[in-house]
Parts: sequence; structure tokens; C-alpha cells
Amino acid sequence: MGWRIRIFTELLTPVEPFKSTYILAIVENEQGERKIARIPSKYFGLVSEGVEGDITEEWTVFGKVTVFIPRLNGYPRRVVLVTGGSRGIGASISLEFAKHGFNVVIADIMRDEEAEKTLEAIRGLGVEAYYVEMDVSKWESVSKGIGEAVKLAGRIDVLVNNAGITRDTYLERMSEDDWNKVLDVNLKGAFLCSKAVYPVMKKQGGGVIINISSIIGILGNPAQANYSASKAGLIGLTKTLAKELAPYGIRVVAIAPGFAKTRMALAVPSPLLQEYLRRIPIPRLVEPEEIAKLVFHVVENEALNGIVIPIDLGTTISSPIA
Ligand SMILES: NC(=O)c1ccc[n+]([C@@H]2O[C@H](COP(=O)([O-])OP(=O)(O)OC[C@H]3O[C@@H](n4cnc5c(N)ncnc54)[C@H](O)[C@@H]3O)[C@@H](O)[C@H]2O)c1
Repeated sequence: MGWRIRIFTELLTPVEPFKSTYILAIVENEQGERKIARIPSKYFGLVSEGVEGDITEEWTVFGKVTVFIPRLNGYPRRVVLVTGGSRGIGASISLEFAKHGFNVVIADIMRDEEAEKTLEAIRGLGVEAYYVEMDVSKWESVSKGIGEAVKLAGRIDVLVNNAGITRDTYLERMSEDDWNKVLDVNLKGAFLCSKAVYPVMKKQGGGVIINISSIIGILGNPAQANYSASKAGLIGLTKTLAKELAPYGIRVVAIAPGFAKTRMALAVPSPLLQEYLRRIPIPRLVEPEEIAKLVFHVVENEALNGIVIPIDLGTTISSPIA
């Protein structure tokens, strides 16, 4: 028996002491029977009156509730914006979301061959792929880029703050410029993008922000004072925004990968990489696709918020003699 939405509200509904956000709707079947139903918050901004779907009964601490799951048949599609999405981990994340029916916006500093290849691969999966040129370290560029992204894609459901750089050297040789460049892209970039995207998500009724940190932000590493500080800073940013934005239905989570098979890790001198691999429980590099799958899982699992998830083959539990 089919049900359809007769009327709904997207107002956030904080139910003390178990604050939660969801859409409340009156749904109706062909016989005119009506029920009050909850619609999960991931459908914020995606449902409208008349949308058909199925109902299920769920048990909560408040008793039995009716839940309505809209049948959207892929439309309208959710949108993910990935900074630094042209290559490496960002490209894998973009493709993973495309595989799951998201339209994708890649925000990167330069539209090069790698960006074109990634855009083509995304379109090959049957979804829309957009490119916006953006330097995440500059407010003017970020604000303009996010504005363009919303114009092109219509909405932003997920922001992945992935753009990152390294300028590795020992403290003695690290210049002020080395420090500033890395902090500006890796940490200030995530702050600026979150600041620009937050009003869009708030208006839509929710969203998810994923910050790509690093195990180096948890463990530290010689010759990476700037990088390590930027990635540790992302953890503080994640925890604060997770608390601050939760009332608007926005979740914020940090992912902390170990060395992954991309241009960034392959730039590490080979003896250092060999030594690293000798010390970790599973001696290989993380595949970018493995990180992408975790990012997608975090977006789909609505209980995850304000945490830092290492994906590191056991690096954070290893010691110099492990
Ligand atoms: N590769 C690893 O071992 C590893 C491990 C842990 C965390 N990470 C993090 O994962 C993220 C992606 O790393 P990757 O290995 O894919 O790196 P990568 O160098 O292959 O890709 C980085 C992307 O960011 C873009 N970018 C750089 N500066 C930018 C700016 N100012 N504005 C917009 N885009 C910019 C680049 O053009 C590129 O597309 C980074 O934040 C990195 O710190 C990487």
C-alpha cells in the first residue's frame, strides 16, 4: 500500500532530554487513512508534498513511532563538495559519492588534466560533476566559489575539507612562510569553507562536514611541525563545530588517515617510508578508496558526530618496537 506526504514541517524538533532533528509529516494512503510520521533528517530539503514512500514502525524510548521513507528514485540528488577533489584522496571521495548517486562539486585551485579526468569519471557514473576554481586559503575565493557551487548544483549536503599541502622540514630550517602556507591551506581553509557552507546547510535544515586530518595531527612527526599543527588544529575545529552546529542538524567529523597511496605520501623520502612501514602492524599504505568508503559511511551513519576516526592500519597503536 502506497503512502504519500500530505503536509510536512522541516522545523528542528529538539525533544528533551534526547535532542534529535527530523521532519514531521502527515502521510496519507489511497484509502485516505492518515498517520503522523517522522522522516529521517537526511531527507531535509529533499522532500515535498505529494512525494510517495513507505512507512515502518520503529521503537524508541518514547514508544512506537511511525517512520516514513520517501521513494525519491534518485531525485533530487544530494550534493557533495570536495575541496582538493581533482586528484588523490579527494578524487576517490568524489567518485565514491558519485557511485552512491550524489552530484559532485570539485573545488580545487587549478583545473588541470587530473581534474578533467576525475570530472569525466564522475560523469561516467551517471551523475552531474561540476568544477569551481577555489583557493581555500582565501576568503574572497572561498565565498565566491561556494556561491558558484550553489548556483550550479542547487544545494550542498556534504562538505569534505580535503585540500591539503605539505612543506616538510626541520624546525631549524622551517621558515615563517613554510608555517603560514601550510596552516593557511590545511586549517584556515577548512574554517573558511565551513563558514561559507554553513548558512547553506542551515537553510536546508542540515548537512555533514568532514575534515580530513591525519595521524600526524595525533602523533606528531619530525620535520612536520607545520603540517602536524594544522592537522591537530582540524581536530579542535571539528569538535567545536560539532557542538556549535548540532542544533542546526549539521554533523562534523574528522578522519585521520595514515600514509596513503597518493602523490603526497610518495613525496616522502623512500628510507623514511620504509622505516615507517617496518613499524606499523599492517605494513602497507592506505588506499585512497578505503578512506573514501569511510567518509561515505560517516555521512550515512547519523550517530557519528564530533569524533576523530583514524584509518591507519594500526599506526596509532604502534610503538618504535612494534
Ligand atoms: N596522502 C597521505 O598519506 C595523507 C595522509 C593523511 C592525510 N592526508 C590528507 O588528505 C588530503 C588529501 O591529500 P592527498 O594525499 O590526496 O594530496 P594531493 O596532493 O594528491 O591532493 C591535494 C589536492 O588539494 C588541492 N589543493 C592544494 N592547495 C589548495 C588550495 N589552496 N585550494 C584548493 N585546493 C588545493 C590540490 O590541487 C590537490 O588536488 C590532505 O588534506 C592531506 O593532508 C593525506
